Amino acid sequence: MPGTRVVPAALVTALRNARSVCVLTGAGISAESGVPTFRDAQTGFWQRFKAEDLATPEAFRRDPALIWRWYRWRRELVRQAQPNAGHLALAKLGSLLPRLTLITQNVDGLHQRAGSTAVTEFHGNIFADRCFVEGRIVACDSDADVPRCPACGSHVRPGVVWFGEAIPQQALDTAFATASACDAFLSVGTSSLVYPAAGLAEIAAAAGAVVAEINPQPTHLAANIDFAIAAPAGVALPELVDSLSR
Ligand code: OAD
Ligand code: ZN
Repeated sequence: MPGTRVVPAALVTALRNARSVCVLTGAGISAESGVPTFRDAQTGFWQRFKAEDLATPEAFRRDPALIWRWYRWRRELVRQAQPNAGHLALAKLGSLLPRLTLITQNVDGLHQRAGSTAVTEFHGNIFADRCFVEGRIVACDSDADVPRCPACGSHVRPGVVWFGEAIPQQALDTAFATASACDAFLSVGTSSLVYPAAGLAEIAAAAGAVVAEINPQPTHLAANIDFAIAAPAGVALPELVDSLSR
């Protein structure tokens, strides 16, 4: 129905009064830009591919050229995608709310392209090239079948976090510190299945923050939080910004 609001007024008030707000995003916020999520029925990557074949260090050791083909295809897909209304609204939210920390599980850089600054990338960035042996970010010819590290000659891998790997320490520190100290926490477009990211909303709730989820398919979080908004991010976030700007 046109004109129907999806964001409860009480959530707008809670955000307006919050001294510190923490936002966690997942693949769902980029879905409206045409970037597939991981677990949505039909369209999710993990419906078509097996994570253990493409997103683990073991898979890379087994067949680095295959992994690179998949990541080059995804890089191209992301390059051609544009930030959507949800990304743009979060960038505006950052200027409306004095202390907003944006943590994303996404590797696509679309928040930054939409104008968000100081984005904490929990799972790395798909455009980063990292030495498989030394672990550091390098400049290399990433069009090669399997790029080589200019410093040590080892294979280079995409700079993302794979299953079984640690979250970058600084991202982890920022995320845990903000989740446990914020007054309001927004979980946007994530299935809340992959830990430790999924634990952030629980940490915030346990610490007394107002917690809200924006997801057309409510997750397991929905039963235990203050607001579960069953709407696309590209609808709910612009509405939230509009309400806060009034
Ligand atoms: P998932 O694919 O697990 O979940 C995406 C969520 O977005 C689902 O709950 C959808 O219902 C929701 N969604 C779909 N369209 C949406 C829209 N327009 N607005 C809002 N929500 C929408 O993706 P993540 O939770 O991000 O890990 O997955 C977490 C991690 O698992 C990813 O970072 C990736 C993956 O394996 C790594 O790459 C390490
Ligand atoms: Zn190296």
